[in-house]
Amino acid sequence: AAKVPFYGDIQAGITTPAQDHMHFVALDVKTKSRDELIDLLKQWTVAAERMTAGQEAAENGAVGGNAEAPPKDTGEALDLPASALTITIGFGPSLFDDRFGLKDRRPERLIDLPRFPQDDLDPARSNGDICIQACANDPQVAVHAIRNLVRIGFGRVAVRWSQLGFGRTSSTTRDQATPRNMFGFKDGTRNIKAEDTEHLRNHVWVSKEDGPDWLVGGTYLVSRRIRMHIEIWDRTSLVEQEQIVGRTKGEGAPLGQQKEFDEPDLHVKGAGGIPLINDIAHIRLASPESLNGARILRRGYNFTDGSDGLGHLDAGLFFVAFNRDSRTQFVPMQHALSTKDDMMEYIEHTGSGHFAVPPGVQPGGYWGETLF
Ligand code: HEM
Repeated sequence: AAKVPFYGDIQAGITTPAQDHMHFVALDVKTKSRDELIDLLKQWTVAAERMTAGQEAAENGAVGGNAEAPPKDTGEALDLPASALTITIGFGPSLFDDRFGLKDRRPERLIDLPRFPQDDLDPARSNGDICIQACANDPQVAVHAIRNLVRIGFGRVAVRWSQLGFGRTSSTTRDQATPRNMFGFKDGTRNIKAEDTEHLRNHVWVSKEDGPDWLVGGTYLVSRRIRMHIEIWDRTSLVEQEQIVGRTKGEGAPLGQQKEFDEPDLHVKGAGGIPLINDIAHIRLASPESLNGARILRRGYNFTDGSDGLGHLDAGLFFVAFNRDSRTQFVPMQHALSTKDDMMEYIEHTGSGHFAVPPGVQPGGYWGETLF
C-alpha cells in the first residue's frame, strides 16, 4: 500500500510489510519537565500522522507559511508520495528514572540488556531514552520523517545516535519475496510473519497477564548494529558459508532439503552419518527447537556507513527485532549465538538498544499516552 494508516490498536511498522528503507534514531530527553515531554509527544503525533499520509509535517509547512519564520517542514519530501511510510516509537530503560515520575512505570521486562560475549558496543551508538523507527519505500521519505520529528523536538530532545538502512533483510508477510543480507543469503525465511496470528500472540504482543497495563498491545524492540566483516566473508568458500548459516546460498533451502520454505530437519544426516546442519549452524542455534520454543519477529536492514579508514567497508546489518519478553526470547538467543555461532568470526556487535513499544494511537490520542 502507498499509505499505511497511522492510527490503530497496534503501532504500524511492526507487522507492516517490511519497506525497503529505514531511518532509525535514538534520542535523549533534555527537558526536565514532564508536561513538556507530553506536549512533545502530542506534537510528534500530529506531525507523524500527517507525514505517513504523504503530507508535510505541518500545514503550509515548507512554503506558504510565514515567510519571516523558519519553515515548519524541511521540504525535501515535497512532491514525494507517502511511500508506505510508518513511524514507530519506543521508550528506553533510561526514560524511567526520576525525571518524569515514571520510575514505577518501568516494565520489569524492560531490562538493561546483559553484556554478551564478544560484544564490542560503542556507547555513542547504544541505548537512548526514546527511539523512533521510520520505514518507507523511498529513503528520502524516511529521512525526512526523522529529520522533522527531531526538528520539532529541538531543545527538548537531542539525537543520541541514528542509523540508516538501505535494504530490508526480512520479510514480514508471506507474499513478500525474501530479501538478502550482506552475506548474500536470503534472510527472513523462517521469520514470524503478519499472517502468523498465533505466533504474534505468543511471541510478540504484550498481553494483559504480562502487564504493565500501559503496554498491553505493545511489544519490546531490540536493536543491534552488527558490523559485518564482509572482506573476510568474501574469502570464505561457498561450502563453508552454507555450513555456517545451515542453508544453501542460492535457493535458501535448509541443508538437506530442496526448497526455501521446506522445514529444516535438524537431524538429517549426510555421508558417514555426519549431520548436514551442524551443531553450531546459525539456523540451529537460533531455532525455536533449540531455544525452548522461543521465536522473535525480525525486521532488520542492511547498512553501509562509508568505510572504516583501514581499507574496509563499514557494512553490516542493523538488526531490529520485536518480542514479548526479551529476557526469555532475544537474550537466550543472542547468548547462544554469541557463544557458539561460527558467524561470530565475521560479525561484530557495535551498538545495542532495548525499548518498550507502546500500543497504537487512536484518533485524538497521542503516542505513548497510556504511559502518562
Ligand atoms: C535465521 C543471517 C544475526 C536470529 C537467519 C538466516 C540467515 C541469517 C541467512 C536464515 C534465513 C531465515 O530463516 O531468516 C544472519 C546474519 C546476522 C544474523 C547475517 C548478523 C549479521 C542474528 C541475530 C539473531 C538472529 C543477532 C538473534 C539474536 C535468527 C533467527 C533465525 C535466523 C531466529 C531463524 C531461525 C529458524 O527458526 O530457522 N539469520 N542473522 N540472527 N536468525 Fe539470523
